[in-house]
Amino acid sequence: MISTKNMTIENVNNIFINASNMKNKINNNNDIGLNNKILINAFFEPSTRTSLSFESAMYRLGGKVINFNKDISSLKKGESINDTLKTLENYGDLIVIRHPDKNVIHDVIDNNLLNIPIINGGNGAGEHPTQALLDLYTIYEKYDYSFDNIKKLKILFIGDILDSRTVHSLIDLLHLFPSIEINILPFNDETSASNELLKNISKNHNQNINDIIINRRNINWKKYDVFYVTRYQKERKFFYDQIDDNNNLDSNIIINNYNIQNMKKDAMIMHPLPRNEEINSEVDNDERVYYFKQMKNGVYIRMAIIYSLLK
Ligand code: NCD
Repeated sequence: MISTKNMTIENVNNIFINASNMKNKINNNNDIGLNNKILINAFFEPSTRTSLSFESAMYRLGGKVINFNKDISSLKKGESINDTLKTLENYGDLIVIRHPDKNVIHDVIDNNLLNIPIINGGNGAGEHPTQALLDLYTIYEKYDYSFDNIKKLKILFIGDILDSRTVHSLIDLLHLFPSIEINILPFNDETSASNELLKNISKNHNQNINDIIINRRNINWKKYDVFYVTRYQKERKFFYDQIDDNNNLDSNIIINNYNIQNMKKDAMIMHPLPRNEEINSEVDNDERVYYFKQMKNGVYIRMAIIYSLLK
């Protein structure tokens, strides 16, 4: 599970059906046959939700978990990443890897380094496929578990589009729905979409490449069914030390009590979390908020993914 780029609707459908089953019998999965399996969480970068939801998912499936801690590992003695991963593979049946260097996971795959299933838990500013699946599942759930009902949605991505791997993977996954319309509202020019991403959107959704990025001064909040917001990915900016921590977000694009009034009554506001200033917590109790549901669905989706890789 490295990327959403080549996933088929059958792949996604299988995962979603399994996730819904997991959800319905969440406290009753111990007989699923994973009780002697071990998942290895190999996180070389901070995480709360991804690592803990994988851990929770594995326990709920009756399996066990080993958490690698880079700060007290032999990395401190100069061990290479490859040697570390070769070591970890002896201790479990499935590994989740998160690493700030986008290429590590590709090197591992291209060189056949490991002989156990690998899940990409986020590779630098690259991709985050399991997050994209739980995001799409959250939309699909809201639309009565029907792919047909979501195929014409209009989605606005707001935030650090350049370096948000969750945005990249969700947009990649949306290639399955060519009539979904995608727009982008970056925080500023430095966080805008890459040309490659714009070309992909234009090709997959048959949109004019010049109309994908919308104007910050002229946002049509009413138009969209889904607002997918991300934080400024400060740890990805090599010049971060020189900029102001607050990054002075334009109040025009912050999701707050003022802007939310202009959205559709049944719009969805999504965020992979953690959030900073881009969504004000004053909107948290609005029924259009879905980021808490996303977290919950993360466990079911990861249960379904682990199950499909180990069974
Ligand atoms: C995201 C990530 O790690 O890419 N978080 C997550 O997995 N839910 C988003 C982020 O860090 O901004």
